[in-house]
Amino acid sequence: MGPCLSKGSSEPNMRSSGNMFTSQADAKYSAKSRNILILFGPPGAGKGTHAPKIVDKLSIPQLSTGDMLRAAVAAGTEVGKKAKAAMDSGALVTDEIVVGIIADRIKEKDCVEGFILDGFPRTLAQSKMLDKELAKTGEAVSRVIELSVPDAVLTERICGRWVHKSSGRSYHVKFNPPKSLAKLGGKDLNKEKDKTKWMKDDKTGEALMQRSDDTAEALVSRLDAYHKQTVPVLKHYGKKKCVAIDANRDMDSIWASIDKATDF
Ligand code: AP5
Repeated sequence: MGPCLSKGSSEPNMRSSGNMFTSQADAKYSAKSRNILILFGPPGAGKGTHAPKIVDKLSIPQLSTGDMLRAAVAAGTEVGKKAKAAMDSGALVTDEIVVGIIADRIKEKDCVEGFILDGFPRTLAQSKMLDKELAKTGEAVSRVIELSVPDAVLTERICGRWVHKSSGRSYHVKFNPPKSLAKLGGKDLNKEKDKTKWMKDDKTGEALMQRSDDTAEALVSRLDAYHKQTVPVLKHYGKKKCVAIDANRDMDSIWASIDKATDF
């Protein structure tokens, strides 16, 4: 299986979770030429929504630590066992775990032109460890794209989200419904016994799922962690590298801004 193919599919998959356990490829890149992007923002800001469009535009993979950790939990690995409780409660997993995963992943072949970090770094310590890792090859983060959304908007986004597990495609019951939901004819999904019957991925027709941490309760902890531990990362990279984008708008307007910010 090539590094860009997801398991059991011939569909190109540039997301991280499909290939984090492949053997490390001997990536030969000319160090300073890689585009190294950080997609930054609170839970529900739209990182997973817009990252696939950057993937298509720049042909570099999206490396989501959240997806990688969920894959590890599903596979029951040691990393997964250590991460599960923290993730379910909305807390961060340890810096050592995520830095270890990312340090290996960015050496793989499909990162030869660069990569998009989604959900990483999430603490100042992680930023410093990333910088150190990149410095070994004379590299540094190229740009930080901050999707800014007020906390009050995020509960509705998170609680209405449905995802396609293998591709990571993100849907929303109200803001971005899958085509299959139209068959319910406007009736209330919450009153349906089997919601998954109406929530299918547009591309594959496979059932969508809801994440175990996508609850109003866990969101309180996730936002707390974001403000206390993750926001300082912005200051670390400074105004020269960070582009702030108002992500409390319609998706097309947000993408237009991201598109502009990713013209290299
Ligand atoms: P992770 O998977 O990274 O989750 P997150 O950062 O909380 O981000 P989300 O995936 O929830 O949000 P998103 O911005 O991708 O939103 P989306 O585009 O889907 O992390 C999960 C957990 O893993 C963490 O809590 C932690 O425990 C652990 N973890 C991960 N990385 C770690 C690290 N580095 N260190 C330590 N621990 C780590 O959008 C959300 C919804 O809104 C969708 O339904 C979408 O359709 C909708 N939507 C998007 N944009 C709009 C819009 N403009 N208008 C209306 N609706 C919209």
